Amino acid sequence: MRASLSAVVLVAGVFSFHASANPIQTTRPSDRQPREILQLPGIWIENIAVRSNGDLLLTTIGKGDIYSFNPSRPNAKPEIVADFDQISAAAGITEISKDVFAITGAEYSPDIGFTPGSIQMIRADFRKDRCGAHKNTTAPTVDFILRGGDVGPLNGLVTLPWHPNLVLGADSTKGLVWRVDTTSGEAAVVVEDELLTPGPVGPYDFGVNGLKIFGDHLYFTCTKRRALGRVKIDAFGNKVEPAELIAQFGDADSSAATDDFVMDKKGNAFVTVRPNLLYKVSPKGEKTVVMNGTIVAPASVALSRNQKKLFVVTAGDEASSVGGQVVELDI
Ligand SMILES: *[C@@H]1O[C@H](CO)[C@@H](O)[C@H](O)[C@H]1NC(C)=O
Ligand SMILES: *[C@@H]1O[C@H](CO)[C@@H](O)[C@H](O)[C@H]1NC(C)=O
Repeated sequence: MRASLSAVVLVAGVFSFHASANPIQTTRPSDRQPREILQLPGIWIENIAVRSNGDLLLTTIGKGDIYSFNPSRPNAKPEIVADFDQISAAAGITEISKDVFAITGAEYSPDIGFTPGSIQMIRADFRKDRCGAHKNTTAPTVDFILRGGDVGPLNGLVTLPWHPNLVLGADSTKGLVWRVDTTSGEAAVVVEDELLTPGPVGPYDFGVNGLKIFGDHLYFTCTKRRALGRVKIDAFGNKVEPAELIAQFGDADSSAATDDFVMDKKGNAFVTVRPNLLYKVSPKGEKTVVMNGTIVAPASVALSRNQKKLFVVTAGDEASSVGGQVVELDI
């Protein structure tokens, strides 16, 4: 035992000497290429959140399942950790306190969109396992925040940083933003604006889709307008100034359907755009292409907790037998 252990240490020491003496090994060009790290056959991945332990939570359309996946463990298997009852889509997800997430679902079909009145919003608490013991297991405790009624259905979700019991949700069908109190289930419309509205029937005619908060603005994507914009809000999410357009990715009839996005701490936005693009948009609205290809029908994107990696999730494409993907990129 003892002999083989010291042999290992010796070999490791030799390797580290060579590595530090050879600066060429410090950057590998392949690190800057997008890498598919997961594909779920026949399943559309709609949204993503990153837990404090680095695990990815993935909402999916098909059966309304929520998956957990460890992106840093080789050969890690995704597991279903929660699901919605009697509805087909799990959609928005946002962390409301450490390791507690609000998640929305609804009945969805590609032809009809979301069915009015079908909303469910759950709280998934990962601090305890189902038996209530403090074991930090993957399966969360789940309860309802709201179910049915005229709210939404809600697509992108974001937590109000000034009142983390309150979340804002994108109503893509009506083209406006709701605020939901996750403690009481009370809901109210807080942002209405022309820039959030869906268009007349056409390809990808959803209105407001993704939501993020940076400074005192609510940033949003609007699918029909192929746009990223922002609107100034108060501490309770109420609109205080008209919305402004930041960037556009195509005209309203183009195939460049804008889906969800994420923002880094410098205020850059990373925006998913169908059929296969991820754009970076600077605070001034300058666009650069970060991914072109590898991703098939991108739906959302998240940053790792240290902001060094992007994780794009996709709907995939049944016709070409590509399932929903998670694609990782070092930035
Ligand atoms: C679970 O997490 C909590 C909070 O991070 C920690 O205090 C506790 O020791 C952990 N328990 C186990 C069994 O790992
Ligand atoms: C993506 O790549 C294709 C093929 O190289 C190219 O034709 C297209 O212009 C690129 N799109 C963008 C937005 O850069």
